[in-house]
Amino acid sequence: NLWLQYDKIEDSDLKQSYLKSVKGIKVLGNSKTLEASREELSKAYNSFFNQELETADSGDGLLILANIDQLPANLSNSVKPDLENINSEGYIIKSATQDGNKTILITAKTDIGVLYGTFRLIKEMQLHNDISNLAIIDSPKIQKRVLNHWDNLDRTVERGYAGFSIWDWHLLPDLIKPEYTDYARANASIGINGTVLTNVNANSLILTEQYIEKVKALAEVFRPYGIQVYLTARFSAPMESGDVDTADPLNAQVKQWWKDKADEIYAEIPDFGGFLVKANSEGQPGPNNYDRTHVDGANMLAEAVAPHDGIVMWRAFVYSEHDPEDRAKQAYSEFVPFDGQFKKNVLVQVKNGAIDFQPREPFHPIFGAMPNTPLMMEFQITQEYLGFASHLVFLPKLFEETLDEDTYVNGENSTVAKVIDGSLSNKKLTGIAGVANIGTAKNWTGHPFGQSSWYGFGRLAWDPYLDSERIAEEWLKMTFTNEEEFVDPMTDLLIKSREAVVKYMTPLGLHHIMNTNHHYGPGPWVSNLSRPEWNPVYYHKADEEGIGFDRTISGSDALAQYADPIAQQYSSPETTPEKYLLWFHHLPWDYQMDNGETLWHNLATTYQEGVEDVEEMVETWNNMEEYVDEERFKKVSMLLQIQLKEAKWWRNACLSYFQQFSDMELPESVPQPE
Ligand code: GCU
Repeated sequence: NLWLQYDKIEDSDLKQSYLKSVKGIKVLGNSKTLEASREELSKAYNSFFNQELETADSGDGLLILANIDQLPANLSNSVKPDLENINSEGYIIKSATQDGNKTILITAKTDIGVLYGTFRLIKEMQLHNDISNLAIIDSPKIQKRVLNHWDNLDRTVERGYAGFSIWDWHLLPDLIKPEYTDYARANASIGINGTVLTNVNANSLILTEQYIEKVKALAEVFRPYGIQVYLTARFSAPMESGDVDTADPLNAQVKQWWKDKADEIYAEIPDFGGFLVKANSEGQPGPNNYDRTHVDGANMLAEAVAPHDGIVMWRAFVYSEHDPEDRAKQAYSEFVPFDGQFKKNVLVQVKNGAIDFQPREPFHPIFGAMPNTPLMMEFQITQEYLGFASHLVFLPKLFEETLDEDTYVNGENSTVAKVIDGSLSNKKLTGIAGVANIGTAKNWTGHPFGQSSWYGFGRLAWDPYLDSERIAEEWLKMTFTNEEEFVDPMTDLLIKSREAVVKYMTPLGLHHIMNTNHHYGPGPWVSNLSRPEWNPVYYHKADEEGIGFDRTISGSDALAQYADPIAQQYSSPETTPEKYLLWFHHLPWDYQMDNGETLWHNLATTYQEGVEDVEEMVETWNNMEEYVDEERFKKVSMLLQIQLKEAKWWRNACLSYFQQFSDMELPESVPQPE
C-alpha cells in the first residue's frame, strides 16, 4: 500500500470531526477519472472509519467533486477568483456553506485536477490535519513529471534492485495486473503524470506492432490517473525494422519511417507522451554516426511527434572515451553550442550532476547555460551508486540540495529549481524525470525506505521548492504512524541519512570510487576497466603528492563552465565549500583545513563519522519497535546492519588504500582497519 495505508483513525475526537465534515459524497460529471476519485475516497473512508461513504445529494457534510464546468452557478461563482491561481492540473479544496449546510468542494479545471484534489483531501486526513475549514489551492509548478523505468523487455531492470520489471510484457495485453492500477494510484497521489516504460539503452522491438498493443493496454490503465506513457526510441530502429538501410536523420526515408511510426502509435494511444532518447552515449547509436548533430536527431523525431502534441526528451548524458581529459566537461561542451536550435517540443534532459548520480555532485553546469532550450532535470531514484537497495538513504535531501543551488546566471537567486520550472528564462515546456527504483519486490522498492525517495521525487516534481524535511515527515506519517515519538526521531534519521552515505563513501568531494562497473562497494584501486573514465583512479588521482581532481585553470578547467561567482570562488581551495573540495582541487595530504587539521586527518575522521552516523541510525531504529509492524521492523533492522557493516568496509578499504600514498598515521579516533 506504500504511503496509501489509510490507517484507522483511532482518536475519537478526530474521527468525530472528520465524520461531521464528510458524511456523504456527490460527484458531478462522468469520467473514469472522477470514478477513480470516488473509489479512492471510498477506500480511504472505509479504512479510516470502517464505514461506507454514501452517495448523497444534499445535506450537511456533503463532499462535492466536480470540475468547474459541471458546477452549478452558485458554487462555480464562489471559486471564480481562485481559478485564476491554478493551472490545468491544479485544484481548489474549499469548505463552503450551501443552504445552511456545511460542504466541502473539490474542484479544478480538469477531472485530473479533481483527482489530485481528492488525494490531497485524503492526505490531510492521513496527516490528521483539521478539515473543518478548508481553503487549499495548489498547482504543479513543473509540467512533465515523469518516471524513467530502465526496464528491459526481458524484465531485467538496469540498475534495478527491487526484483524484476513490473511490466509483464509476456502476458500483456491480456493480463492486466492489479499492480498496474496501484502503481497509477501511487503516482497520481503525488502528481506524477508520465512514465517512460523502457530502458534508455533501448530495444527497438518496443516499437513493433506487437509491443505497441501491450503499451496501449498499460496506457489504458494509467489514463484515468492522468499518467501518459512514453517510450525510449532506439535511434537505429528504422534499420532494425528492416525497412530502411540507414538511420541518418536527414534521410527522407528515415524521416518518413519515424512519422509513420508516430502515426501508428498515436492511432492506438492518442495521448502517448513521446520519446526519450539516449543517443551517441555509451555505445548507443545516434546522429553522430552519420556526421549529424544532436539537433538534427532530436528535431527529426520532434517533427514526427509534433502533429500529435508529443515531445522528445533528448538526453545530454554524453561523454567520449576519445577525450580522456575530463568527463565532467563533455556534455556542456557538446550541448551548450546548440542552445536555441532545438524544435519547441524538445526538452534536453540533463542529469543533476556532470558525472553520474554520485552521492554528492555540484549541479550540472548546463543548468543555466542554455537559456533558450527547455532543460529537464534527471534524478536517479534507484541507488546505483548509493548502496543499491541495501542502504537507507533518503534521496529527496539530495534532490533538494541540487534544486536549491544557485547558478548565478541571471544574478543571485538563479536557482536550479528556477531553471527547471521555467521561471528563470520564461519557458512554457518544463519537465523533471526520476529513474525509478520500482520492481516486483513485495514492497515495490526492495528497501522499505526506498519508497520515501519515490514519494519525495514526486513531491519535488510537483513543487521543487518544498522542504525535504516536510516531505520526510509526511511520508513517515502516511507510511507508518502519526505518533510523534516515531515521526520526530525518524525524520531526523531520514534527513541525516544522505550526509551519512556521503561521509562513508565519498567525503569532501571524492566521487566515482565505487567498485568496477556494478558500482557496489569501494574500489578506489580499480584501474583496469576498458575506458579510462570508468576507472576510480581517474577521479581521485591519489598519489604521494595528494588527492583530488584539479578542475581549476591549472587542471581541466571544468570550473570555467560555471558562472561567476562560482567559477571565481571555487578557483581557490580556501574559498571552495569543503563538500566540493576534492571535486575541484588536487591537494597535498597535509593541506590545512578550516578546522586547523590536515586533509588526511579530516578525510579519515569524516569516514569515521559516516560509520558513527549509521550506528546512530541503528540505535534510533531499535527504539521504534513498538511503532512498526514486525515484518518491516525486522527487515529494516537487518538492512541497517548490512549498511553498518558496509560503512565500515568503505571506511577501512578507502583509508587503507589512500594511506599508502599519504603515508600518515590515522587519527586516534579512527580505528585501525583489521
Ligand atoms: C550510468 C549507468 C548506466 C546507464 C547510464 C545512463 O552510466 O551506469 O547503466 O545506462 O548511466 O544514464 O544512460
